[in-house]
Amino acid sequence: MTEKTKRDYLATPIEHIDIAQHNVVPLVEAMRKMSYSARDLSRAAEILDRMIQDKECGIILCLAGSLINAGLKKVFVDMIRCHMVDAVVSTGANIVDQDFLEALGFRHYIGEDRLKSGTEDSELLRLEIDRIYDTLIDEEELRICDDTIRQIADAMPPRPYSSREFIVEMGAYLERNGCKTTDSIVLEAYRHQIPIFCPAFSDCSAGFGLIAHQAAKGDGPKVSIDSVKDFLELTQWRIRNNETGLFMIGGGVPKNFAQDVAVAADILGHGMKIHKYAVQITVADARDGALSGSTLKEAHSWGKVDIAFEQMVYSEATIAVPLIVGYAYHKGNWKNREARQWNQMLDAVAAK
Ligand SMILES: NC(=O)c1ccc[n+]([C@@H]2O[C@H](COP(=O)([O-])OP(=O)(O)OC[C@H]3O[C@@H](n4cnc5c(N)ncnc54)[C@H](O)[C@@H]3O)[C@@H](O)[C@H]2O)c1
Repeated sequence: MTEKTKRDYLATPIEHIDIAQHNVVPLVEAMRKMSYSARDLSRAAEILDRMIQDKECGIILCLAGSLINAGLKKVFVDMIRCHMVDAVVSTGANIVDQDFLEALGFRHYIGEDRLKSGTEDSELLRLEIDRIYDTLIDEEELRICDDTIRQIADAMPPRPYSSREFIVEMGAYLERNGCKTTDSIVLEAYRHQIPIFCPAFSDCSAGFGLIAHQAAKGDGPKVSIDSVKDFLELTQWRIRNNETGLFMIGGGVPKNFAQDVAVAADILGHGMKIHKYAVQITVADARDGALSGSTLKEAHSWGKVDIAFEQMVYSEATIAVPLIVGYAYHKGNWKNREARQWNQMLDAVAAK
């Protein structure tokens, strides 16, 4: 039997779902009359739509896990295009390893079902293919992504930056050099002045690029990431919004970081700025006491989330997100929402 080549494995790219093509409103409304997770999901969709209708409300989209490679990228790009989102808090994996990677012209690929057994992982390692469950990535392309981050850092004046400021530079890079896909979260956020925060920015492809940058600079001045600046900027964003809502996919650092600004506003002398609306989609449950599965009711005890409009949805995100966001998209209330250019305001805060 002939050995498989890299091309054999990386034959079929992942296609991103287009919510505009599927009017799910009747389906999601029918789910409201069912039980269990169907009713929870339907209520979550109504809460997202309510946030969008509330003209006083700034909306934070939180992204954990591996969502962009999974075919959800266009959903989030459309949320930015349609002014359904005013800030994004994400893991670096979603923004750099996955979205920016695709913007550089690379793809994620469908891995055949049998790969989930793990028996071919040594073969994948030999061919420099990385596996995320049933999805494949070319490691050589990821290395180009790492190196592009190094090039961006090399071209910036050496000083500490918030991850938001660095991601703005990534958007500017795509605008200058030509984005190789029609849909990119980094580029769309750059164009709409929507801030993206990755509080653990080094914990992804960006980290590989930034250590290469810092090692090459030796004892000289260098670009670094200041995560406290991230926290201060998002808190300033919270203080400038009368009301806020969280749409959280997965848990992890983005969930806690976005929730904590409610308390951080109090630390800065503005009183508790509790989030009025909150939806979380997760597969984690509350038994272990950890952050990802902690309920939004529990977050209320910390002063982070209000209880009138909160909903946990226990589902894997690739199933729930197209339904919930698709519902809000086809309801069309985003058409009455104004674009808000938050990066400009945050640049002014960062300059102080
Ligand atoms: N493939 C990757 O996920 C990847 C790659 C490179 C770097 N990293 C880094 O690892 C760190 C940790 O990432 P994390 O915070 O996403 O941790 P994580 O992957 O453990 O996700 C956090 C929680 O979110 C929930 N979740 C994740 N995916 C979900 C889904 N599809 N549907 C429903 N719920 C889901 C789960 O409850 C999970 O416990 C980050 O800094 C990230 O940049 C991750």
